[in-house]
Amino acid sequence: MGELPLIGRGRAADVYDLGGGRVLRRYRTAAAGSVEIEARAMAHLRAHGAPVPEVFSADGTDMVMERLDGPSMLDVLKSKPWRAAAIGRQLAELQAQVHRVPIDGLELRRHSDGESILHFDLHPDNVMLTSRGPVVIDWSNVAIGDPLADVMYSWMVMVTSSPDGVPILLRPLLQRVRNALTDAFVERIPLDDAARRWITEVCELRLADKNAYDREKARVRAFAAAHGLPG
Ligand SMILES: Nc1ncnc2c1ncn2[C@@H]1O[C@H](COP(=O)(O)OP(=O)(O)O)[C@@H](O)[C@H]1O
Ligand SMILES: [Mg+2]
Repeated sequence: MGELPLIGRGRAADVYDLGGGRVLRRYRTAAAGSVEIEARAMAHLRAHGAPVPEVFSADGTDMVMERLDGPSMLDVLKSKPWRAAAIGRQLAELQAQVHRVPIDGLELRRHSDGESILHFDLHPDNVMLTSRGPVVIDWSNVAIGDPLADVMYSWMVMVTSSPDGVPILLRPLLQRVRNALTDAFVERIPLDDAARRWITEVCELRLADKNAYDREKARVRAFAAAHGLPG
């Protein structure tokens, strides 16, 4: 890919500009996800009005999709940390919008009982703020099931992750920004036993994620102990 400009890099994939308003997203390893399944889910979501990039092709490790322009929610957290609570609320609304999309015959891996489409890695680095509003990327974990599991996954990831590239001036403020973000994200979610049951499970999922850093896993264990069901 020497010639194509690299415009994005996550923990699993590299994204190159193809020109003409298109990008190539390429997994670094073949086992990272199934782009055919992701593309099918993305087309379904788009057809139901959810904000997701248009996919042009998907094969092997590669997906060609619409290029999105604008910062991610994480970029905005870094440059305008005082917006953290508003971003947390906006992310919760966006997730609820995805959860309202009907399954309508879409076939996907089933995670749990329930009839919602779950992103299962929705966090501020997977939302791009474009001129047409927020758009959700990175559908590698898409599944069908209980929307509360998806909410608890996102909450856990935001509480426990160490984002790369936090500006040095922001580091002393990181915990306050994180708290504002995560408190706003769950402000309408009752943290009852049903929610706490999912916390235990989503923490186990994250502990098995090869893209999670060791320092993040230590935080996940502490989060499970603080919020999950004992046992
Ligand atoms: N459609 C797109 N248009 C522009 N940039 C994108 C697009 N999709 C992804 N990116 C950029 O590439 C990065 C990695 O893509 P992502 O799908 O999140 O992969 P990963 O699974 O590695 O996190 C994103 O954080 C974003 O900066
Ligand atoms: Mg990503």
